[in-house]
Amino acid sequence: MSENSLNKKSESWSGRFNEPVAELVKRYTASVDFDKRLAEFDIQGSLAHAQMLGAQGIISQADVSAIETGLNEILAEIQAGSFEWLLDLEDVHLNIEKRLTDKIGDAGKRLHTGRSRNDQVATDVRLWLRTASDAILAGIKNLQSSILELAEQHVDTIMPGFTHLQVAQPVTFGHHLMAYFEMLKRDAERFADCRKRINKLPLGAAALAGTSYPINRELVAKTLGFDGVCENSLDAVSDRDFAIEFTAASALLMTHLSRFSEELILWSSPRFAFIDIADRFCTGSSIMPQKKNPDVPELVRGKTGRVNGHLVSLLTLMKGQPLAYNKDNQEDKEPLFDTADTVLITLEIYADMLRGISVNKANMRQAALEGFATATDLADYLVKKGMPFRDAHEAVALAVKHAVNKGCDLADLPLNELQQFSSSIASDVFSVLTLEGSVASRDHIGGTAPAQVKQALQRARQLIS
Ligand code: ARG
Repeated sequence: MSENSLNKKSESWSGRFNEPVAELVKRYTASVDFDKRLAEFDIQGSLAHAQMLGAQGIISQADVSAIETGLNEILAEIQAGSFEWLLDLEDVHLNIEKRLTDKIGDAGKRLHTGRSRNDQVATDVRLWLRTASDAILAGIKNLQSSILELAEQHVDTIMPGFTHLQVAQPVTFGHHLMAYFEMLKRDAERFADCRKRINKLPLGAAALAGTSYPINRELVAKTLGFDGVCENSLDAVSDRDFAIEFTAASALLMTHLSRFSEELILWSSPRFAFIDIADRFCTGSSIMPQKKNPDVPELVRGKTGRVNGHLVSLLTLMKGQPLAYNKDNQEDKEPLFDTADTVLITLEIYADMLRGISVNKANMRQAALEGFATATDLADYLVKKGMPFRDAHEAVALAVKHAVNKGCDLADLPLNELQQFSSSIASDVFSVLTLEGSVASRDHIGGTAPAQVKQALQRARQLIS
């Protein structure tokens, strides 16, 4: 086939085909509508690849210069929004390569030497995810710092701690908030750890088996800031486990924020009235004038569903694929992009929203007073006076029953009534029945005592500084 007849074909791979691809199939298989988001990284990868080809003497330095100039112009066109994306050219890679060849001729056609779209796309996705991971890590830190700001104001604000959504024991609000700081700490660790596995270079794997050109993969890795190369070509082009990990870390992060949201929704409802979420994060009802709806936390809870869904999509995408590359992998991009977009905007809005929360300390305290939250403290008091814990538990259960019948709290029972349940109860009991006494007594690392919360806050500040 002459050079001319090659140039007439619209697809760069169409030489062996006898009829053009059906229009419907083109639409079905094209990915350019969504993978154009990879353009900047595709160009970065191509520049590094071309420079390596030049350094190894595989293409001439003149070709490298032409490719550099051409790709930089294309990048500027894309950034200016003047680049014309063509569905006919299938994906981001072929669109950019065609434009390059239109601009610089044969040098553009040499760019793909020793490379395949298979290692190219895997490289692009890794570069994209590396940037997304860094943005998410910064977003987590910003949210952590917003949690700290709120927690620092509530080191000794008392609220009921719940189990089974029933008042269990008093805790400090600062301590409660710091539970989410811990969850986010692990989320950040997961993203940082996953980033290590994202940050390996697939280029050089070519279609699946490597290439016969004398390439230098380490050089490309270094240029692109990768920590090393993928060490098996078949694995490099086919597995997307790094993307699954990223989505799993995202699903967990969203799940944590979804739990937090559930609490904000409950606490801001008039039944609890523990907090108020600033108006700018809420909406009204079109029919019920009294309503102020916590839309933002509700949407965070809702969007967690779609991120969890993306995780299942990617796992399912991978599970049936034989080695090496299969077109199935093209389906990794939309779930990944949407996952990163959702996580990033959620982190940002969450940090802002927490800065707009006001706390009703009196309501929190009243709720802690109402649910026999210091019953465990009374049992512990009896144990310290020599009673076995199980007996103390039973004695306090009877005391609670008595208080329920009287319609009052344990602390409201007169000493002689309390003494009916154990003769070891003395007047010093009232100090352990107070909310302040209860929280202050849990004074060990991980406990809710204000002194401990202060130390936890200090450690946290240091961690994110
Ligand atoms: N658009 C493709 C993808 O996202 C690029 C790789 C195509 N490779 C191929 N052999 N058809 O996976």
